[in-house]
Amino acid sequence: MEEVRRSIDGSAVRILAPAETFIIESPLNREETLRQLQMQPPVFLRHIQPIDGSLNLTETEESAVLPLLANIVGQAQEILRGRRTAVHVRRAEGCAYPHSVFDTKTSLDGVLRDIGATADQRSPEIIVSIYAVKDQLYVGFGTPDELMSDWPGGAIRFQREEEQISRAKFKLLEAERAFGLDYTQYREAIDIGAAPGGWTSLLLERGVSVTAIDPGAMHPSLRNHPKLTYLKRNASEVKFKPNTFDLLVCDMSWSPMQMVKLVLDLNESLAYGATAIVTIKLMHRKPLQTIRDVIAKLESAFIVHRAKQLFHNREEITLFMTKQY
Ligand SMILES: C[S@@+](CC[C@H](N)C(=O)[O-])C[C@H]1O[C@@H](n2cnc3c(N)ncnc32)[C@H](O)[C@@H]1O
Repeated sequence: MEEVRRSIDGSAVRILAPAETFIIESPLNREETLRQLQMQPPVFLRHIQPIDGSLNLTETEESAVLPLLANIVGQAQEILRGRRTAVHVRRAEGCAYPHSVFDTKTSLDGVLRDIGATADQRSPEIIVSIYAVKDQLYVGFGTPDELMSDWPGGAIRFQREEEQISRAKFKLLEAERAFGLDYTQYREAIDIGAAPGGWTSLLLERGVSVTAIDPGAMHPSLRNHPKLTYLKRNASEVKFKPNTFDLLVCDMSWSPMQMVKLVLDLNESLAYGATAIVTIKLMHRKPLQTIRDVIAKLESAFIVHRAKQLFHNREEITLFMTKQY
């Protein structure tokens, strides 16, 4: 909320679902509001849904809800006609909306057909975003870029694998999507704070050679992997030749400033232009200040492209950087 207040002068924010969603009342028009938010991509705001239509569910007969929703979507014919369109439905806990996600999507399929839109959940050009919270149903239309995500509410979900070593793996998977990366393009990675090995295992799956550093033990399934070098050590004790790695990942859950020092100390071992993906633990009361301080220090050696709280981050954010030439 603080981020939004800072980027849109004169905006008012009001909580909808605590710690999850809020309404922004902006003094700017829709385009200006979205542009303002995109100018300095927010760290904590993961998703935005314009409110193009709404229904008060306590004032609406249950049998009238879906027809009224269909009407709102039908009125967006100009925006939707001829475009690949996804319908995203999100229900807040305890909302008064009487229909399931499946029933809502099914009932809107016919509307989309009638107005000449192509239903496409996988690669939409435009998203019909529907959010049910308390006694309200909010409907908005926007491109994935405008909505900041092509997942409902920005909540990217990955399938848990049977042999998955740690949930932490989801963070690195999400970073790959969120920052438009492709880990198969890297040759030699260093993973600081690697145990038990979720991140390492993902990079190995992508064909990257990994040097994993952690005083803690790696998962037995990774032992003897031909592309893994495991150094059972504190990261402050290791040194490598210059230009050894083209990817650095670091998920140490440590004090932010100590993490910064470690990463800067290892900077020598990175090739120019090398990518770094680093999580920053937000331990203190002033997260925005911590982020500013951390970025200011890292900018002595890196270009910081993005700081973002990913869906799979808890009390932390993820940085995407490249080493300066
Ligand atoms: C959140 S876990 C990492 C999880 C890992 N990314 C995964 O996917 O399985 C943090 C790790 O950082 C390690 N760690 C903390 N301080 C460290 C240091 N100074 N040097 C190396 N590893 C460190 C801890 O031992 C711990 O295993």
